[in-house]
Amino acid sequence: MTHSSNWTPGSWRDFEALHIPEYRDGAALAETEQLLGSYPPLVFAGEARRLRADLAQVAAGKGFLLQGGDCAESFKEFHPNNIRDTFRVLLQMAVILTFGSQMPVVKVGRMAGQFAKPRSSPTEEQGGVSLPSYRGDIVNDMGFDEVGREPDPARMQRAYMQAAATLNLLRALAQGGYANLHQVHKWNLDFVGASEAGAKYQNVATRIGEALAFMEACGVNPESVPQLKGTDFYTSHEALLLGYEQAMTRQDSLTGDWFDTSAHLLWIGDRTRFPGSAHVEFLRGVNNPIAMKAGPSLEPDDLIRMIDVLNPTNDPGRLTLIARFGHDKVEAGLPRLVRRVKAEGRHVVWSCDPMHGNTIKAASGFKTRPFERILAEVRGFFAVHRAEGTHAGGIHAEMTGQNVTECTGGAAAVTDETLADRYHTHCDPRLNASQSIELAFLLAEGIREEIDKDQIAAAA
Ligand code: PEP
Ligand code: CO
Repeated sequence: MTHSSNWTPGSWRDFEALHIPEYRDGAALAETEQLLGSYPPLVFAGEARRLRADLAQVAAGKGFLLQGGDCAESFKEFHPNNIRDTFRVLLQMAVILTFGSQMPVVKVGRMAGQFAKPRSSPTEEQGGVSLPSYRGDIVNDMGFDEVGREPDPARMQRAYMQAAATLNLLRALAQGGYANLHQVHKWNLDFVGASEAGAKYQNVATRIGEALAFMEACGVNPESVPQLKGTDFYTSHEALLLGYEQAMTRQDSLTGDWFDTSAHLLWIGDRTRFPGSAHVEFLRGVNNPIAMKAGPSLEPDDLIRMIDVLNPTNDPGRLTLIARFGHDKVEAGLPRLVRRVKAEGRHVVWSCDPMHGNTIKAASGFKTRPFERILAEVRGFFAVHRAEGTHAGGIHAEMTGQNVTECTGGAAAVTDETLADRYHTHCDPRLNASQSIELAFLLAEGIREEIDKDQIAAAA
């Protein structure tokens, strides 16, 4: 099968589908998928189109993409405070980035649907017992238990309901007054306020407050400029569980175009981005903005072939490439991809995932990511784009508003020994709120350097 034959929402079924569970009860699965197909869409085509237009600006070097949230959302951590706190830290990061770069920041949560996980092995062994691996709460249960590990289609319905309720709160937070720029001081979380990153944030907030007061005196206020009152906030997840994604795919009544209405932006993971992949086949046909992870094993020729399939009309904003090389590989591996994409005149957003190439096992046994390596990959990413004359367009982070201890390092110094204190993730280790804010300051510096370099070049 090639990706050039006719696309339908179900054409992926004729392709190689990796990381999708086998359900024992096929009839129950079909019934659930049919039911999901009758549920309301979670997002609308017009919103996905607006995000595509925003990302086209980023592709043109006139904006920055901030994408972040859980590695895996879970049923257990479903709580309004968790949603609010992650949203709040993303807002803080966006403020730091906008203030530092003077560029619009496109905000996209890894939220309201980020449930399904690819795993390195289909089974997990513990004490001589082998059970199916945990694949995210939308598929099975994390507990090492025979019944819980059996993939259960009913979980898709629960995931849909949780995504709907999460999105409802996110929409309210984004537009209902909470995200009003005049609240910029109040977004600082107590435990962050005391840290160095929190103090730096307060300083930015004070300067923004002064700018707002000045503008207010000139007649610019949230009533006259509604952008001050709220913000656009979009959702995204890895489009991994294709039965669920297909059920959420609908035809836009205005244009006839297909959209996956489970989120605004969907991406293809590093393990499912090969030619002939069912995941590539599925996403090529939906009109949402999409992204693809790009790791060290991706060859420039293969990347161009992928772009041919995923964005044949070379629309800016359609495709984001999320580089995830690792702190020690980014400067050697990324330039050849960036160079080739530039030479071929392909419009993409280049974003940096400094998380997935930097996962290690700590002596204590926890999976962790040293914060220094995360920052080093980000620095490397900016350096590559500065050298190639391309735009370092975004960040993709696994983070949370909670005060977790999952990544070591940072100003608040999480150590190997303290990882156990608050290690709550259902999959990969996330940045906590202070680490996320520290990261945002580094990003703002990187963007600033890129702009300064462009301005010097323009003046010369
Ligand atoms: C992820 O984003 O959680 C993930 C699995 O990443 P990758 O596909 O880059 O390994
Ligand atoms: Co992850």
